[in-house]
Amino acid sequence: MTPRLGLAARTANMNVSAIREILKVVSRPGVVSLAGGIPSPDSFPIEVISALVPTVLDKYGSAALQYDLTEGFPPLREAVSGLLRERGIEASPDDILIASGSQGVLDGIGKTLINPGDLVAVEAPTYLGAIQAFSPYQPDYLEIATDSDGVIPESLDEVLAGNEVALVYLVPTFQNPTGRTVPLERRMRIAEIIRRRGVLLVEDDPYGALRFRGEPVPPIASLAPEHVVYVSTLSKVFAPGLRIGFAVVPGELRDWLVIAKQGVDLHTSTFNQALAAEYITGGFLAEQVQRIIEIYRPKQELMMRALAEDFPDGFTWSQPDGGMFVWVEGPAGFDMDGVYARSVAAGAAFVPGKYFFTKPGAGGATMRLNFTTAEPDELSRAIAIIGAAIETELVSSP
Ligand SMILES: Cc1ncc(COP(=O)(O)O)c(C=O)c1O
Repeated sequence: MTPRLGLAARTANMNVSAIREILKVVSRPGVVSLAGGIPSPDSFPIEVISALVPTVLDKYGSAALQYDLTEGFPPLREAVSGLLRERGIEASPDDILIASGSQGVLDGIGKTLINPGDLVAVEAPTYLGAIQAFSPYQPDYLEIATDSDGVIPESLDEVLAGNEVALVYLVPTFQNPTGRTVPLERRMRIAEIIRRRGVLLVEDDPYGALRFRGEPVPPIASLAPEHVVYVSTLSKVFAPGLRIGFAVVPGELRDWLVIAKQGVDLHTSTFNQALAAEYITGGFLAEQVQRIIEIYRPKQELMMRALAEDFPDGFTWSQPDGGMFVWVEGPAGFDMDGVYARSVAAGAAFVPGKYFFTKPGAGGATMRLNFTTAEPDELSRAIAIIGAAIETELVSSP
């Protein structure tokens, strides 16, 4: 007899990622995809890794292959502590946890902090992977309004005034999906609000190091360290396949996250952590970030020019100074689904923005564009195709 499969209520809560489904369709030959959210393969430091593998084996020997602390491999926590100091965050190695990608931290946070029915406040739009990480723990979402400068502090304050939330989740720098960055003055107000309201903020910062121009803005964690779990990763500045993320976690939450991780995977790959430690302390990270910026900046500038040439009046887009994404907004009531179907048929794909909202019906006139993976000539062609699809859509369903 086949076993009876009694799915847990939380399992039924796990949605199939709509974006993964889109990515399957658009990975067909002949379709230029601006839909992905992944680094350019040209950005991976393959030669550096070849050189570091023997170094790791010589230096750490069997320790690099053995079980290790759940908190993280000590030399990597030491290296991350130095990296964070450059970002304005004072954290001792003991304050730092290593996880299997920042996604591993987000899951741990959901597991340790969210009860069914708890409220979680997120930006509208927000990073879909965070929703995927939190949703199995069955929260309800509250949306914080955003504009071209990212999250609006007054909206955050209003959301928190009427509700007791388990946590606030924000991506303040080169956000996925919008590419927007919250300016310093807003960060200070956000820090003041979360302190005054006694709320925990999860600040997710995978893209901050990928700044193409302008001055860096300090993480909110540096302004309200007791109230912020700062989450970051080497995925966009080393290699996502190595799955190295890290977090600075205040107070007793750190101990709970360690206990939760023990039950998940005991610890993140020791060998990959040792590689990451050498990558940071050997100065390779700093060099590689510059190389990655040199790959991405011209592509982002090309996308900006192509959008200005090919997208019709009434459409606006974010002007990110870094990261991997541009966000396009059409006139109210416009339907990006129609554009999506026309574009894919003509050979170019993007992600309709509605998938990044927690409330059904929102974001119908928006789209996310990625500029890291397509080659420059493909990128221009894809924007021309999408622009033409918008024009057709405007004429056929005015
Ligand atoms: C905002 C954000 N957070 C977290 C992640 C997950 O990254 P990691 O590879 O570190 O798990 C991503 C990846 O796209 C992201 O965009």
